[in-house]
Amino acid sequence: MGPEPGTDEAFERATVHALRWLGSLAIRRVPSSATADEVAAVLGTDLPGPGEEPAAVIDRLAAAVEPGLMASASGRFYGWVMGGTLPAAAAADWLVTAWDQNAGMRDATPGVVAVEEVAAGWLLQLLGLPAGSSVGFASGATMANFTCLAAARGRVLQRVGWDVGADGLSGAPRIRVFVGEEGHGSVDVALRYLGLGAPERVAVDDQGRLDGDALAAALAKGAGPAIVCLQAGNVHSGSFDPFLPAVATAHRAGAWVHVDGAFGLWAAAVPSLAPLTDGIADADSWATDAHKTLNTPYDCGIAVVADAESVHFAMGLHASYLLTPSTVDPLETVPELSRRARGVPVWAALASLGSHGVQELVEGLVSCAQAIADGIARIPGAEVLNDVVYTQVCVTFGPDERTRAVFTALIDDGVVMPSASMWHGRAVLRFSVSNWRTGPAEVGETVAAVERAARAVAVPAGREERQQ
Ligand SMILES: Cc1ncc(COP(=O)(O)O)c(C=O)c1O
Repeated sequence: MGPEPGTDEAFERATVHALRWLGSLAIRRVPSSATADEVAAVLGTDLPGPGEEPAAVIDRLAAAVEPGLMASASGRFYGWVMGGTLPAAAAADWLVTAWDQNAGMRDATPGVVAVEEVAAGWLLQLLGLPAGSSVGFASGATMANFTCLAAARGRVLQRVGWDVGADGLSGAPRIRVFVGEEGHGSVDVALRYLGLGAPERVAVDDQGRLDGDALAAALAKGAGPAIVCLQAGNVHSGSFDPFLPAVATAHRAGAWVHVDGAFGLWAAAVPSLAPLTDGIADADSWATDAHKTLNTPYDCGIAVVADAESVHFAMGLHASYLLTPSTVDPLETVPELSRRARGVPVWAALASLGSHGVQELVEGLVSCAQAIADGIARIPGAEVLNDVVYTQVCVTFGPDERTRAVFTALIDDGVVMPSASMWHGRAVLRFSVSNWRTGPAEVGETVAAVERAARAVAVPAGREERQQ
């Protein structure tokens, strides 16, 4: 095998840039320092007539883009719920690109499909979900929610004698859908894609956990097909819905139970966190992300459906030019026909961690979140608003304008990056500890950076008494 001119140089240049970027994460500023418009101006917006050598394209791309990169793979990054990338997962993802397999059909690309099937089996064992469930690798939790809810829609309608595949939704019995008041917006979007409209909201407690009695009362108000969406991991508090009673209540009413566990489902792999997920395996479907807590590269969501046939019915596609499958094809488990083998980095992440490593990863994230919360709670004027049971820390610095000013000071400082939000009517900073690179050193730097920012922002007159 000789060198392949063009390919070799381009990959070599990409490797140099990638390793330089990854090597800089420990010390670099976290927020980006250029805007999208500034990066576009450097790239140039007119497509040139003559093309460039591949290696030169890669060099130009890296130089132009780097100032606009947010160091979300840094251990000092806590924005939204993102996570970084484990070395084995990132390297496996490069192989996936080089192999360029279309992972939709089992008999056409058996190598990568086998890897995904092994990863799927590991996931079910690790998360304690029913053997034989369908596991689909979707682009993220939004599409994993969509996949699971599509399966739910077909099955609950079929139970009342309606075939949504044949007859669509026009004239169909109405499906009642219940979501907690603090459910993630991606569930609403998925319901909208599915033509199910806006869900009925169910009351939650002060940590955003669904109230089981309110769910029972809401279900009792009507009859017919129903879907209940529960949540493992509230984006503000990290809280988990009470699965054991809520699933039982929903099932008694004949409802399908779906769990959005985009980042929280991973708690099910950790014995010390078992109380959070008690009863979760009794649900009917579960959506999660590998690209959050498991730390694989984007894009990788996972849709698990206990009633595998229901998802094949919703997603399956049969055309004469495709192969006739010897068994279930991956294209029957997710919305896409053609897709990259995004389950391969999941396999690599799990292979590199082992089940013990997954437990240590998740426990490490939780203990870093608790240490950040403890450190910040000692800063004058700071208040941690949530019970830190998982990976999320939600903080205020008194009046909303001061909290926002602390956020701006932190971004200017650049050492750490939380994200800003509103929770229960108050401006908050959210620290989502989702990155395998976050450890005690990063926790120390984080608390010090927050203290610096808080000191730089004056406490409004008359509010001093709130400082502890
Ligand atoms: C609870 C929850 N559900 C769903 C999503 C959507 O995930 P994705 O962005 O991977 O589609 C997120 C994203 O942060 C989330 O936190």
